[in-house]
Amino acid sequence: MADEKKQATWGGRFSEGPADLMLRIGESVSFDQRLAAFDIQGSQAQAAMLAHVGIITEAERDAIQEGLDAIFAEIEAGKFHWDKSLEDVHMNIEQALTLKVPAAAKLHTARSRNDQVATDMRLWFKFACDQLDASLTATIQSLVDLADKTSAVIIPGYTHLQRAQPVSMAHHLLAYVEMFDRDRQRVADVKEQANVCPLGSGAIAGTTLPIDREFVAKALGFVDANGNPKCTQNSMDAVSDRDTFIGFAAACATIGVHLSRLSEDFILWSSAEFGFVKLPDAFTTGSSLMPQKKNPDAFELIRGKSARLTGNLQMLLTMVKGLPLTYNRDLQEDKPPVFDSLDQTLLMLDCVAACLPGVTANEAKCAIAVADPALLATDVVDYLVVKGVPFREAHHVVGALVGLSEKLDTPLNKLPYAEVSKIHPQLGEDWSEVFDLERALKAREKTGMPGPKQVAARIAHWRK
Ligand code: ARG
Repeated sequence: MADEKKQATWGGRFSEGPADLMLRIGESVSFDQRLAAFDIQGSQAQAAMLAHVGIITEAERDAIQEGLDAIFAEIEAGKFHWDKSLEDVHMNIEQALTLKVPAAAKLHTARSRNDQVATDMRLWFKFACDQLDASLTATIQSLVDLADKTSAVIIPGYTHLQRAQPVSMAHHLLAYVEMFDRDRQRVADVKEQANVCPLGSGAIAGTTLPIDREFVAKALGFVDANGNPKCTQNSMDAVSDRDTFIGFAAACATIGVHLSRLSEDFILWSSAEFGFVKLPDAFTTGSSLMPQKKNPDAFELIRGKSARLTGNLQMLLTMVKGLPLTYNRDLQEDKPPVFDSLDQTLLMLDCVAACLPGVTANEAKCAIAVADPALLATDVVDYLVVKGVPFREAHHVVGALVGLSEKLDTPLNKLPYAEVSKIHPQLGEDWSEVFDLERALKAREKTGMPGPKQVAARIAHWRK
C-alpha cells in the first residue's frame, strides 16, 4: 500500500495501526470521494449550527467554513490528495481541515460519521434524482418526437410475439412514454423520501449537547413545501435506515426494465425479419468478420445493463436483511451499487434519447407486415356484434372464416362471397369493407386507444 500509515482519528485507544489488509478492506475513499461536495456542505451547516447554539465561536465557524471552501476548491481542481489510510471521504476532509484550521478539532462535536454519511447520502439522492428526472424527460421527448413522425405508419401490434391487431407505430412508442412518466413519479417519490435530515442522530443515541437539529435541516434544504425543517424522528432508525438506497435502486431497476423492453423492440424491429426501422449508424457497430453486419449494440448493451440495475437492488436488499440495529460496517458497501445505478441509468437513458432522432421507419416493410387481413379478424367479430350477433357466436363464425381461409389458401379478405355468405346470414356483402386499416384505426377513438385522434391528443399532452 503506497499511502503511509497514519494514526486514524479514532486511534486514541489503539497500540498499533491497522494491518495493510485492514486498510484495504476498510477504505471507502476510492468510491465515496464523490460525496465530497455534500460532505463539505454538511460540515459547513454543522459549523453554522454549532456557532448558532454557542458551542463554537463565530470566528471558529468562519475559519472552518473558509477552510472547507479552500479544500473544495482543491478537490475541484484535482489537487487534493486522497489518502486511503484515512478510510473515507469524511476523515480525509476533516484531517485536511485540521492541518489548515485549529478550530477543525471542534467540527465533529455532537456528530458521528454514522449520521454524517446518512446526511451526505440523502443530499446525494436529492441531486441524483434531479439528474434522473432530466434524462427521463429527454428520453420522453425523443420518443414523442419519433411518435410524431410515425403516427401514420401502421404496424402489427403483437401478443405472444404473434401478430395481433394493427396499431400506429406512434401508439406503440407512446406506451414507453407512459412507463417513463411513471418512472419520473417514482424518482420524485424517492427524492421526497430522501428529504429528511438525519444529522444530530449521532452514532446511535443523539447527543447530550444543546444542538439545534432544525437549524441544520433548514441550512441543508431539508424542508417541506412551506419551508419548515424536516428531521428524522428516531436516532436509531436514522443511522441504520437504508430504505432510500433501496427505493432509489428500485426506481433505477424499473427504468432499466422499461429500457430493456424498448431495446428488445428496436432489436427485433431492426432485424431483417421485421425490418420496421433503420437504426442510425452512430448507434450500431459492424462485425470484425462479416462485412454485411450492422448490429444494434447500443440497444443490446442497454438490455444487458438492465441486469446490473436489478442486481444492484438485489445486493442492497440482501445486505440489509440480517443486520441488527443500528449501524454496522456492512453498510459501507451501500454506496457502490447506488452510484453504479445512477451512472448506468443515466448512460442508458442518454443513449436512447440520442439514438431515437436517427431512427427511421421503413414504411414499405411495415405496410407488408400489416397487410395480413387476419389482423382485422377481431373487427369482423365486432361487425357481426353490431348486427346483433352475440359475441361468442360471432367469434365462432369468424373462426370458421379463418379456417376456410386456411383451407382454401386464400387471404381472409379475398374469400369468395358465395362461400362467406354460407357461414352466417349476417355476413352481408359489405363485410369486406372491414379490411381497411385506416378505418380500423379511426374506429378506435375511445380513451387510450390507437385511433389517430387519440394518438395526436396524447402527443399534444406530452408536448405540454
Ligand atoms: N465510511 C463509512 C460508511 O460509509 C462511514 C461511517 C463509518 N462509521 C463507523 N462507525 N465506522 O459507512
